[in-house]
Amino acid sequence: MKIAGVKGMNDVLPADVARWQEMERVAREVFALYGYREVRTPAVEHAQLFARGVGEATDIVNKEMYVFEDKGEELLALRPEGTAGTVRAFIEHGAYVEGPQKWFYMGPMFRREKPQKGRYRQFHQIGCEAFGIAEPFLDAEQIALVADYFARLGVGARLKLNSVGDAACRPAYLAELKAYLGGRKAELCPDCIDRLERNPLRVLDCKVESCQPVLNGAPRLLERLCDGCRTHFDQVKVALDALGVRYEVDGRLVRGLDYYVRTAYELTSDALGSQSAVAGGGRYDRLVETLGGPPTPGIGFALGEERLAMILEKAGKAPPAQGPAVFFVSADAEGALEALRRAAELRRGGIACDLDPRGGKLKAQFKQAERVGARYALVLGGAEVQSGQAKLKDLSSREETPVALAQLAGFLASLPRP
Ligand code: HAM
Repeated sequence: MKIAGVKGMNDVLPADVARWQEMERVAREVFALYGYREVRTPAVEHAQLFARGVGEATDIVNKEMYVFEDKGEELLALRPEGTAGTVRAFIEHGAYVEGPQKWFYMGPMFRREKPQKGRYRQFHQIGCEAFGIAEPFLDAEQIALVADYFARLGVGARLKLNSVGDAACRPAYLAELKAYLGGRKAELCPDCIDRLERNPLRVLDCKVESCQPVLNGAPRLLERLCDGCRTHFDQVKVALDALGVRYEVDGRLVRGLDYYVRTAYELTSDALGSQSAVAGGGRYDRLVETLGGPPTPGIGFALGEERLAMILEKAGKAPPAQGPAVFFVSADAEGALEALRRAAELRRGGIACDLDPRGGKLKAQFKQAERVGARYALVLGGAEVQSGQAKLKDLSSREETPVALAQLAGFLASLPRP
């Protein structure tokens, strides 16, 4: 019986993993430049963590979370995002006593969404969280980090920036928004009407064409920010300008998680189609406290690796070559044994090589060498073993270079990386 993979949960096959490793390698490199250190937290947490942290009224928790009773003992959830678990770990291990911290993570997240291009039920995020600093320059520094990361990968993305206010200015705004939308309910789609009660800010996010006239006329939070939020937002923009980071202010940018205050940002790409957001984040100055820690401001973002891989692929960015340096082609039994020995020797010296223990026709072995992406092929038979001399064939230029077997490792190690 053939058993298929779970809907919306994808395999990343070896040919694509090279691209993923590259995204992760560059992330580690750039994040280190900014002082972020890696944290690894479990994929499973208490369901309550997300209900309290991300928000009971959000689609992510309310509709999309995988929740299960663990043998009737406790209610657990597959993490739908990385921030709540990271904050939990930050509190649980008392990391706040050491002062401000910058952490990053990468790993699978789970949301039971309707699968479509760019939207999956298991997907992977790379995220950063910075704790303990409320100042707007941190926001700008983190946004610059994201911009640097994308630039290093050679992909462009649009950066949208907004302020979603805080406890001082948002409640009055929400009341005003609700009253406005309530008065024009008849013009809204069913989704908006549903959100109007549960999560009115999210109504602004609706993409349905017929809702746009109502939403465009809606009162704007950016014009109603309290002094603290206004100054913060202005300072973020000043710092981004100073850093040369380009952004667009989008007063309708709202995020799907409840913990945000003040800065909210998102990166989008036209290469993605309808699921256009590749990364998103913002400030969450009350979250640590909400989850039982001492008052500690925070800001973070996460990017979707599946979506970033799609952008890279569309942009024609080839993942780095990963084939072996040399593929041994054996001409006879003596050559096959020598190939096995030489391969072991090269591998001990840190040089990737391969061979086909089935032996067989030379032509088939050369084909195999090309298939695995080897840079060179080297034929070994009784004659080469006797003379200690062989020819290294460059598989792209077809050029042959004579080489003494005793010097093979040294020769390969001295070659510049392609
Ligand atoms: P989010 O906007 O929900 O934020 O997700 C961040 C990114 O994860 C999205 O921009 C998208 O690239 C990717 N993503 C989300 N859902 C899916 C899906 N179903 N399939 C594929 N990719 C997806 C957060 O999760 C916040 N925790 C980010 C954050 C960190 N805020 C502060 N710190």
